[in-house]
Amino acid sequence: MHVPSLLLAAASLPLAFAGGKGQEKKGLDFYAKKAGLKYFGAATDSPGQRERAGHEDAYAKYDQIMWKSGEFGQTTPTNGQKWLFVEPQQGVFNYTEGEIVTSKAQKAGMYLRCHALVWHSQLAPWVEAKTDWTPETLRAAIVSHVTKVARHWKGKCYAWDVVNEALNEDGTYRESVFYKVLGEEYIKLAFQTAAKVDPKAKLYYNDYNLESPGAKVEGAKRIVKMLKAAHIKIDGVGLQAHLIAEQHPTLDQHIDAIKGFVGTGVEVALTELDVRLKTPATAANLAQQKEAYKNIVGACVQVKGCIGVTIWDFYDPFSWVPYVFEGEGAPLLWFEDFSTHPAYDGVVEALTNKTRTPGRPWRT
Ligand code: XIL
Repeated sequence: MHVPSLLLAAASLPLAFAGGKGQEKKGLDFYAKKAGLKYFGAATDSPGQRERAGHEDAYAKYDQIMWKSGEFGQTTPTNGQKWLFVEPQQGVFNYTEGEIVTSKAQKAGMYLRCHALVWHSQLAPWVEAKTDWTPETLRAAIVSHVTKVARHWKGKCYAWDVVNEALNEDGTYRESVFYKVLGEEYIKLAFQTAAKVDPKAKLYYNDYNLESPGAKVEGAKRIVKMLKAAHIKIDGVGLQAHLIAEQHPTLDQHIDAIKGFVGTGVEVALTELDVRLKTPATAANLAQQKEAYKNIVGACVQVKGCIGVTIWDFYDPFSWVPYVFEGEGAPLLWFEDFSTHPAYDGVVEALTNKTRTPGRPWRT
C-alpha cells in the first residue's frame, strides 16, 4: 500500500530533516542513506562567487532545492575556502565567502566537506610570485595557512581536502611551487598539520581522473602508502569525478578503482561529480550522460568503503564547465528551467541498487 510505505520512509529520515527545518521528502540523500552511504550532496557557491553573474530570478527556487528539498544531505563550498580567498595576502586571513556556505550547511544539519587546503590552482598570487622561497620559509607558510584555516572551521568539517591535485596524468608529481621547493615533503607537512589542528576531521587526498584504473590511480595510492608508512593520518581519497558523457568508464572500471583505494585502508568519496556533454543537449547525449552517472554512483553504492557522493553544484547555469571546456555544458542534474535531467533518474536507479549484478557481493 502506498501511504503506509511513505510514512515508514519519512520515519527513517535523518534527524536533521525530521526536526522541522527541512521538509520531509524523498530526495537523492534519502535514497543514498538507505543504500548505506552517509550522504548525497551538492557543492554550492556564495552568490558573489558564482560563475554566472546575474540570474537572480532563479535564486529563490535554487535555494529551496539546495537547502530545503531534502535532495542533499551534504555540501562543499565551491570556492570560498580556497587559498586565494582565505589568505589573499601573506598572513591576512578572510573567511567571509567560505562562511556563507559553511554556516548555511550547519543550519541545515548537512555534512560539510571542506575544500581545499593546499592546491596549486586558485592559489594566492603572493605564493607563486615569490621567487626566493626556501624550504624553511615555504614550510612555515604552509603550516601557518593550514593551521589558521583548519582551526577556523575546526569541528565543523566532516572532511577536509588537505592536498588537491598533486599528480600528473602519468602518476608523477605535478611541478607546483610546493613540489619544486619541498618535494613530497609538502604533502606530509600538510596532512600532519591538519591532523594536529582538527583531529576529528577526515583528511583526504583529492584529485581528478582517479575513477578508473591507471597510472594516476597508482600515483594516488602511492601517496596514501607514503603517508601511512610515515604514520601520518590520511583517511580518504576523493575522486573528483569530472566525467564526459560521450566517453565514460564502465561500472566495473569504477568498481575496480574504488576497491583499489579501499584496499589501501582509506575511505573513498565522489567529491565533485559532473558529466559534461557536447552542447546542445540531445536525447542521445543525455542518455549517455545518464549511463555515466548511473555507473559511477552505482559503483560507489556497491563498494562499502565509498561513503558519499557530491555533485559539483546541481544547477547547470552555475556549473564551471562551460567556462573551462569550450562547447561543453549541461553537466549537472537540473536544467536551467529546473526540470531534471534523465541522469537524475539514473542516479535514483543507482541508489536503489539497480546496477547490481546478480551474484556480485553487495557493499564489500
Ligand atoms: C572550480 C570551481 O567550480 C570554479 O568556480 C572555479 O572558477 C575554478 O574551480 N577541481 C577542483 C575544484 O578541485 O575546486 C574546481 O572548482 C574544479 C576542479
